[in-house]
Amino acid sequence: MAMEFSTSVIAALDPAKKIVVLTGAGMSAESGVPTFRGEDGLWRRYRAEELATPSAFQANPTLVWEWYDWRRGIIGEAEPNPGHLAIAEMEELFPHFSLITQNVDGLHRRAGNTRLIEIHGNLWQVRCVREGRVHEDYRCPLPEIPPRCACGALLRPHVVWFGESLDERDLTRAYRLIEECDLLLVVGTSAVVQPVASFPIMAKHGGALVIEVNRDPTPLSSLADESIQGKAGEILPALLEKIKGHRGLSYPIHGLNLDP
Ligand code: APR
Repeated sequence: MAMEFSTSVIAALDPAKKIVVLTGAGMSAESGVPTFRGEDGLWRRYRAEELATPSAFQANPTLVWEWYDWRRGIIGEAEPNPGHLAIAEMEELFPHFSLITQNVDGLHRRAGNTRLIEIHGNLWQVRCVREGRVHEDYRCPLPEIPPRCACGALLRPHVVWFGESLDERDLTRAYRLIEECDLLLVVGTSAVVQPVASFPIMAKHGGALVIEVNRDPTPLSSLADESIQGKAGEILPALLEKIKGHRGLSYPIHGLNLDP
């Protein structure tokens, strides 16, 4: 059965608009990647302060790397789900499209998105703690834990841990995109971790319409203009169909004048 959306959601999905898609761990749940909060969340089973802080890494880099190696193993087996693929197609359909993801799993890239900011980093990148140099490392499992740079210093995952600042350039770009967008589509995030949690509020102040897609209610649900409850892998392909149906479009519209 075709999924029904309110007329205001359908009207909002106009490809002429500047859209920003903001995603969190729920986006990858249907790919088999564990989320952080909620019933099966990682932070129910593991202590963030022992695994995802600079002091945890300093105290026990082996433990931290064992945990990241385990997560890399799960993510390495995972495939982008229909939700990721729908967002990749949205990038083709909207001339003004940006994706901001909190996910470090790289699945949006694998689905084909290129206009994206991985605002919490990427777990397939490693950084030398001495030189700060970043490089990709897809070895899984890692042959040596903790891994070391050619210079002899430790390598760390190139992700943002609790207590660390986000990359300033990424953050500046993200703020600008949020301020300028007409439509913010927020998918699969519990919307509690700052500064990303404030993006929907900023977008609303800037006059954008905020649509949430989440399996469960969140602190954002009452603030969003529309909150669609359901799985990302089911809702996003249905939204994509509505976008394609806009003004009869069924193909990419780059550079086309949409007015009749
Ligand atoms: N479809 C849509 N939403 C889903 C699905 C699904 N299939 N499965 C779960 N969700 C929702 C959950 O209801 C929850 O609201 O996704 C959200 C996941 O929330 P979190 O686990 O808190 O993930 P996220 O918001 O991305 O966390 C932010 O916290 O620990 C850090 O750095 C980590 O980037 C992460 C940040």
